[in-house]
Amino acid sequence: MRYKDKVVVVTGGSKGIGFGCVRAFVEEGGSDVVFCARNAEDGQAVAAHLNTHGPGRAHFVQCDVSKVDDVRTLIDETVGKFGRLDCLINNAGWHPDHKPIDDFSVQDFRHLLDLNLVSIFAACKFALPHLRKVKGNIINMSSLVGAIGQLHATTYVATKGAITALTKALAVDEAEYEVRVNAVSPGNVYTPLWQEAIDASDDPAATRASGEAAQLLGRMGTIEEAGRLCLYLAAEATFTTGVDHVLSGGAELGYGRKTRRG
Ligand SMILES: NC(=O)c1ccc[n+]([C@@H]2O[C@H](COP(=O)([O-])OP(=O)(O)OC[C@H]3O[C@@H](n4cnc5c(N)ncnc54)[C@H](O)[C@@H]3O)[C@@H](O)[C@H]2O)c1
Repeated sequence: MRYKDKVVVVTGGSKGIGFGCVRAFVEEGGSDVVFCARNAEDGQAVAAHLNTHGPGRAHFVQCDVSKVDDVRTLIDETVGKFGRLDCLINNAGWHPDHKPIDDFSVQDFRHLLDLNLVSIFAACKFALPHLRKVKGNIINMSSLVGAIGQLHATTYVATKGAITALTKALAVDEAEYEVRVNAVSPGNVYTPLWQEAIDASDDPAATRASGEAAQLLGRMGTIEEAGRLCLYLAAEATFTTGVDHVLSGGAELGYGRKTRRG
């Protein structure tokens, strides 16, 4: 077991990449994993399913990360129950529909900042006093598009670029406590969020195919690959801090068609 006797918090762990992380830490890490989501029924079902296998344990806490008090309670309940916190994975986040800046309101942007960015600042702030005691680590789920941009996604891209920047600034500050802070930037990882985009498009088959073709490796990443990277960062990458780990299958490399002109 690669992360045994450790306590991990994962936000947004009932499905998608967060679920991949919860499962990796329970099954390969042997950890106690406290994960949250907004929907209690989904979360409890996921915990019950994972706990039939072990060897670690999954514990569900209902929490909306866009509410600062919920985030505080998530951390407090975890430390109250287990007496320690070794790793915080800030995964919960959302990508709104693609549209030009004209069609986003300022309020849309503020809401997304709360959900994708302020939630991470709050979770880090509440968790750090506990992480410092055990020289723990933080993993923030950013996105490849935070570095390379994306069509009609100004608000989302802004939140993700800020997550990577926050990660680096916090890594600088927390080094004196030997707390490591890293980011993971997925490109296209096949999850329910991606399926939503496929379902919402005019041509679902073509949308899925173009999602697959965007990577040098010719497919999307999996939630298992995301979970394994996070477990590696927590358990083995002990000389790694302030790094943005791109999990993209090479999507950002090489020239591609970038304009309708010509
Ligand atoms: N899937 C991709 O290709 C991809 C690419 C880049 C970045 N990401 C990032 O990875 C993270 C996970 O994405 P995903 O594709 O697995 O998404 P998903 O929608 O499939 O799963 C999101 C999870 O977060 C939870 N969640 C959403 N809003 C929440 C809230 N307010 N409070 C608590 N929990 C909440 C959901 O319950 C769910 O468990 C996000 O931060 C996303 O921006 C994903």
